[in-house]
Amino acid sequence: MTGTCRFDFAPLEGITDYTYRTAHSRFFPGVDRYYTPFIAVNETCSMKKREQKDVAPEHNSGVVLVPQILTNSAGPFVWAAKEMAARGWHTVNLNLGCPSPTVFTHGKGAGFLADPDRLNAFFDEVFSHLPGGIGVSVKTRIGIRDTKEAAALIAVFRRYPISELIVHPRLREEFYKGEVHREVYRMFSEEYPGALTYNGDIGNAGDLDEIRTAFPGTERVMIGRGLIGNPALVRVLKGGKKADKKELRAFHDAVFEARLLALDGFGNTAGKMKEIWSYMGSLFISPEKQLKRIRKAQTELTYRAAVSELFGSCQLR
Ligand SMILES: Cc1cc2nc3c(=O)[nH]c(=O)nc-3n(C[C@H](O)[C@H](O)[C@H](O)COP(=O)(O)O)c2cc1C
Repeated sequence: MTGTCRFDFAPLEGITDYTYRTAHSRFFPGVDRYYTPFIAVNETCSMKKREQKDVAPEHNSGVVLVPQILTNSAGPFVWAAKEMAARGWHTVNLNLGCPSPTVFTHGKGAGFLADPDRLNAFFDEVFSHLPGGIGVSVKTRIGIRDTKEAAALIAVFRRYPISELIVHPRLREEFYKGEVHREVYRMFSEEYPGALTYNGDIGNAGDLDEIRTAFPGTERVMIGRGLIGNPALVRVLKGGKKADKKELRAFHDAVFEARLLALDGFGNTAGKMKEIWSYMGSLFISPEKQLKRIRKAQTELTYRAAVSELFGSCQLR
């Protein structure tokens, strides 16, 4: 497949914080944009300390960052967008995809898709109050429980100067599993006139080729789990070499050390590292025993030893 393609790193709550993003961009350059996991902004227009840290320019050097906002209220969204612009981030992303029950039942994330009229009113207000120079991109699912919902959503998105529409072609009810609805993405590609980005299940060059063959106009893709599982994926998709053990180890160690510092100790760090391993473990041949040791590690010492054992005794696929 020829032609240029932009590669963005999808946000994954609990994984792609600034420690991960900056290490990734250092060891595996080539990703065009990184998105923050969602920042929930409520009516009081405030951000948690952790979220402030995550978008601080000094924590994101070398990274093109798009902060993602989760809200269903225009005032707090505009407030957050201005906060981000003040930090040098001139595009903000609205999360219309989060399927988690705590978000969904409050009418946020994918929950906001239940009410296209309310979504219209939200965008009316946002675009009439947002200062010039701030772009609004949107990351959306295709509906909640029926693919027929997509048409009304496209009609909403078409009305506004959204800088980019990122579509994960699954329903809320499907969470992250099952086949994506290509036929619904096709509807978006035919009926949405603005910049469109495909997101979902790209894990290798074959997956990317399939999408770009099915949708020849595809110029932008966003990748999440595929990149966590294989941090060199974008390099490979661009025709470069696979990751070797030395660089994977260096990348892992950089994330781990930065997290130990940022998260105040091993307890908080361990869970996040173990989540990364639940994806990255598949890069190795027969890693089950070593991954189990990593999962069971209770101290920094035993964690480090388990990681060394994995790198020492398992070959890469
Ligand atoms: C653990 C986890 C956390 C996620 N957190 C976010 C998030 O904060 N914001 C968001 O827009 N999407 C989030 N997503 C969805 C991903 O960004 C992405 O849309 C989804 O995984 C599909 O793309 P992929 O198949 O390339 O991973 C999350 C997904 C997972 C599995």
